[in-house]
Amino acid sequence: MSTIAAFYGGKSILITGATGFLGKVLMEKLFRTSPDLKVIYILVRPKAGQTLQQRVFQILDSKLFEKVKEVCPNVHEKIRAIYADLNQNDFAISKEDMQELLSCTNIIFHCAATVRFDDTLRWLDDAIIDEITPKLIRDWPNIYTYTKALGEMVVQQESRNLSIAIIRPSIVGATWQEPFPGWVDNINGPNGIIIATGKGFLRAIKATPMAVADVIPVDTVVNLMLAVGWYTAVHRPKSTLVYHITSGNMNPCNWHKMGVQVLATFEKIPFERPFRRPNANFTSNSFTSQYWNAVSHRAPAIIYDCYLRLTGRKPRMTKLMNRLLRTVSMLEYFINRSWEWSTYNTEMLMSELSPEDQRVFNFDVRQLNWLEYIENYVLGVKKYLLKEDMAGIPEAKQRLKRLRNIHYLFNTALFLIAWRLLIARSQMARNVWFFIVSFCYKFLSYFRASSTLKV
Ligand SMILES: NC(=O)c1ccc[n+]([C@@H]2O[C@H](COP(=O)([O-])OP(=O)(O)OC[C@H]3O[C@@H](n4cnc5c(N)ncnc54)[C@H](OP(=O)(O)O)[C@@H]3O)[C@@H](O)[C@H]2O)c1
Repeated sequence: MSTIAAFYGGKSILITGATGFLGKVLMEKLFRTSPDLKVIYILVRPKAGQTLQQRVFQILDSKLFEKVKEVCPNVHEKIRAIYADLNQNDFAISKEDMQELLSCTNIIFHCAATVRFDDTLRWLDDAIIDEITPKLIRDWPNIYTYTKALGEMVVQQESRNLSIAIIRPSIVGATWQEPFPGWVDNINGPNGIIIATGKGFLRAIKATPMAVADVIPVDTVVNLMLAVGWYTAVHRPKSTLVYHITSGNMNPCNWHKMGVQVLATFEKIPFERPFRRPNANFTSNSFTSQYWNAVSHRAPAIIYDCYLRLTGRKPRMTKLMNRLLRTVSMLEYFINRSWEWSTYNTEMLMSELSPEDQRVFNFDVRQLNWLEYIENYVLGVKKYLLKEDMAGIPEAKQRLKRLRNIHYLFNTALFLIAWRLLIARSQMARNVWFFIVSFCYKFLSYFRASSTLKV
């Protein structure tokens, strides 16, 4: 019997950000391993015309929760959605709800955050914010990391007699094993990059090829969160422990290796209707990166927009490409460096778990096989994010072949035009051309003469 699973039994748990990527996987694992828990309170805001209840039903109806419904058939009765907006005073929670939360909650997992890298501060009016932001954030690369650090500071200062712990994941990716491999549900971070690459929009990225691509599967993060929740409540460490859950120093994979495997997977499982043939070049050189942006990204977008205009349609590719390149450029600070994180507390916790808990709440990333994980990841993006049918794979492969032929044809034509122009303007190019042609002619004559002699 798992000690951690038993610990959550009968408990009332509050989760913020339960409608997000990590929050959903956390909720799923809690219900699956501790179906006898009392209640999970989730703080939710209405969104995209959906009420709180509709949002909860949509989560429970997803494939992610299929196994949960088998082990915990009354799961919908155990979720209590509470209206909240964390940007408002007292989170806009009603007095009654607040009272219930304060008197009943045993454990809190705070996952809510704005994960956009281009967000701005929201305390004052825009002009003042623009002026003070650089002074406030100083060496922090963006508002996201700066406000994360502020949040951690406030939590530690205000925690008083609460037992708290801080968990810092690196880049959170698709599920590795649970409840099934490859589950993803939003286009943030690596998911968006996989889509843009598979659809042939993004073919080169400014990233150091040998830098560690510190992706960590979401189920690994969730397993650590649940183990930390148990350890913090039972052992009550004297200080706030910070747990890093990263792959970099335990089982590193660099951007080059990741790119190669992603491309190999696209050969087997291509995405439907790609714009161009997928490619994944990484360079840390600014000049090369700008060249690729011009030739591989902007030029094809402009050409495609011309085609749309000529066929009476609205051009949209240049705008889309600019947005994509802007988003990718926000990641440059992180993907051009290798980061080192101490996993001391995470390894300490691993050694504290019973063999059964190590199995059920596995966060030992050393066991991860990157090639297998990346293949499942790409497949997951295709199935769960793009909702593409596997039956369409043969057609997608045909299209890729056509795109490859167009690519070769286009490059050959471009080369010949450039060569023709060069020959017209440069004596040296003409000499080289004459030398090549006469060399080929002599070689063919010799070849023909020697084969005639043999006969
Ligand atoms: N994903 C990563 O690669 C990564 C890496 C390191 C750390 N983290 C951290 O892990 C946590 C979860 O990230 P995630 O990837 O799950 O993000 P996510 O999918 O974007 O989910 C964010 C969650 O926060 C909620 N939220 C945001 N603003 C809110 C507000 N004002 N009021 C109420 N709820 C609000 C969202 O609710 P709505 O559904 O209503 O928008 C959503 O449930 C975050 O703290 C993030 O900083 C993530």
